[in-house]
Amino acid sequence: MSAETQEYINGMRPGPLTREIPECMRDKYTLVQSIMDIVVFVIVGIGKIIQAIYRTISGVPKRDLKGNIALVTGGGGGLGSLIALRLSRLGCTIVLWDINKQGLEDTVKLVKGIGGKCYGYVVDLAKKEDIYRVARQVDQEVGRVTLLVNNAGVVSGRYLLDTPDHLIQRTFDVNVLAHFWTVKAFLPSMIENNDGHIVTIASMAGYVGVAKLVDYCSSKAAACGFDESLKLELESKGIKGVRTSLVCPFFIRSTGMFDDVNSRFLPQLSSNDVADRVILAIRTNEPFTVIPGYLRVLLAFKWLVPWSVVSDLIRMIVPDAMPVHAPPAAAPAPPTPEPALLTKLDSRPMTLTPPARHDRQV
Ligand SMILES: NC(=O)c1ccc[n+]([C@@H]2O[C@H](COP(=O)([O-])OP(=O)(O)OC[C@H]3O[C@@H](n4cnc5c(N)ncnc54)[C@H](O)[C@@H]3O)[C@@H](O)[C@H]2O)c1
Repeated sequence: MSAETQEYINGMRPGPLTREIPECMRDKYTLVQSIMDIVVFVIVGIGKIIQAIYRTISGVPKRDLKGNIALVTGGGGGLGSLIALRLSRLGCTIVLWDINKQGLEDTVKLVKGIGGKCYGYVVDLAKKEDIYRVARQVDQEVGRVTLLVNNAGVVSGRYLLDTPDHLIQRTFDVNVLAHFWTVKAFLPSMIENNDGHIVTIASMAGYVGVAKLVDYCSSKAAACGFDESLKLELESKGIKGVRTSLVCPFFIRSTGMFDDVNSRFLPQLSSNDVADRVILAIRTNEPFTVIPGYLRVLLAFKWLVPWSVVSDLIRMIVPDAMPVHAPPAAAPAPPTPEPALLTKLDSRPMTLTPPARHDRQV
């Protein structure tokens, strides 16, 4: 990480996005100009909608990801390991960050087993200093990260008043604040090289509240806001080479996070299908992905009908988000072991089921 990047992080110098609005442009919009802007906006907007419909029907060309250095947080298990395997198959060098050392070793072996290059780092994403320190280490030992997948997540799964403060804190630390720190660490070099992609794995829970998931839903809503605002910052500054993708899946089977969820009418998603969809979103530079896609209609429906209908619908679809009380109200986790670069691990045949979980109790 360059000295300049370090200075942006410390707030000692304005970042590469900062450019003052010239005085002559402040509050100088005339009525005619405003009308013209609206007319142009409507015409261009209709054109873009027609283009999007055409591209949906005809298909969007897929980007070649070969040569990218892809960092996947939470890559030591669940969805993260499946995304890492696919990115490796497409020619990316993989960097995995996870708090779960055993899970990391398993995924590193899997990626190496299919002939990929993979580096695993033990990082506690709830610790800002850990993130910045290991980001510097990755920069020196592996190279410039060009694809950042902020995937790690945790869930407490209790009614708000039963959730200990430290679990609420941890949910926000991992599910959203870590995105700020990883992006601050890697975005400056992406902007300097006009080349990069930041993927936020949020959730449908970022747009729809669910009982027993108050901290989780709020953290995911923050992650959605993070992606959208960052996207706008980059677009308003004309930075075309750095893209962001927001991915909002419904409940996924077999990763462990929501295995016990009681969901009716809408089937839980296959983790392999979700990983495939994430890769498609990356390769087609999709700004916003809901999985399954038809749930977009429900999102619009939410703002059109009275709250009591929305409430009935959510409670009908998800009668209980956490029927089995997974995490004990334990004290905060013990200190993280020293970060280590995991090297030279045996290969074994590729499997597309996630490696065994070792962090079920959080
Ligand atoms: N599973 C679902 O139903 C579902 C649905 C929608 C969105 N999501 C989101 O998808 C992402 C992946 O979920 P998953 O189902 O694979 O979950 P998972 O629990 O299987 O995997 C999460 C990974 O994050 C790691 N992690 C947790 N805390 C960490 C920390 N402090 N530092 C570093 N790593 C940490 C875990 O060790 C684990 O490997 C999450 O952001 C989750 O919120 C999941």
